[in-house]
Parts: sequence; C-alpha cells; structure tokens
Amino acid sequence: MAETTVITFGTFDVLHVGHVRVLNRAAEFGDRLVVGVSSDALNFSKKGRKPIFDQDERLEIVANLKVVDAVFVEESLELKREYVLEHRADVLVMGDDWEGKFDFLNDICKVVYLPRTPSISTTGIIEHISTSAS
Ligand code: CTP
Repeated sequence: MAETTVITFGTFDVLHVGHVRVLNRAAEFGDRLVVGVSSDALNFSKKGRKPIFDQDERLEIVANLKVVDAVFVEESLELKREYVLEHRADVLVMGDDWEGKFDFLNDICKVVYLPRTPSISTTGIIEHISTSAS
C-alpha cells in the first residue's frame, strides 16, 4: 500500500509541550510527517516580532524530533497548496486556531484541525521569562 504523508506548519520557536503534542498527533495520521517551519520573515509578518531562535536553529530542532521525517522553510502563508503538492501530502494538519481556513484544500488532501494544548504558548513563555527577569 502507498505511504501516507502528513504535512503541518508552524513557527516552533522556544519549543514547548504544545508543539511536541501537535507533532505527535499529526504523525498518527500517516506514515511520514513533513513540517513547514516559518521563515524568520514570515514569523515577523505574522507575529510582529523576531523569533528567539532563528530559522536554521528552529529547522534543526524540529528535524531532530523522533516523529519528524523532513522539514522545509515555509516562506509564505499563501503557498499552502503549492507546499501540499510539492511534498505530495495526503493529509494537512493544522491547529484549531485555523479551523475552517484551509477547507479549500480538501480537493487535494484531507484537512484536519487539532485542538491546541491549553495554557501554553511561545508568546506566554517569552512574556513569563521577561516579567520574571525584571
Ligand atoms: N500548538 C498547540 N498547542 C499550543 C501551542 C501551539 O497545539 N499550546 C500548535 C499550533 O496549533 C501549531 C503548532 O503548534 O499547529 C505551531 O504553533 P506556533 O505558532 O509555532 O506556537 P505558539 O506557541 O502558538 O506560538 P506563539 O505564541 O508565538 O503564537
């Protein structure tokens, strides 16, 4: 039987348990997990700040997780269709903060939204560290 490829996307800056859980759950939807890691420029345009770890470091960290088979740099939010086709993904997994937003890709892959892990985010961790340091 043909291998099923899963694709997902994110910044994965200051890696935390919410990231690990979504990647583990994404991997369960297929045989191979490919992760698009936001470029520094894309992260700046989405979140209005530079990531703590630059894109090469974030790619290296995510690539070394047990469930991840391949990584690439996501340069633009508008290129999801191209990335799904390029990586021959059968399933697109997104956090449910994007619920419904990628249903238009149902013609080329299955689209799955997973619930976020509550009470943790990169933004929250950065704020926590900066307030406890001051
Ligand atoms: N994610 C999750 N649970 C969390 C945080 C993130 O499942 N508590 C998932 C997101 O839904 C996404 C992936 O992890 O699929 C990468 O999210 P990212 O934006 O890099 O992480 P955040 O912690 O949300 O970052 P930020 O606070 O900078 O928005």
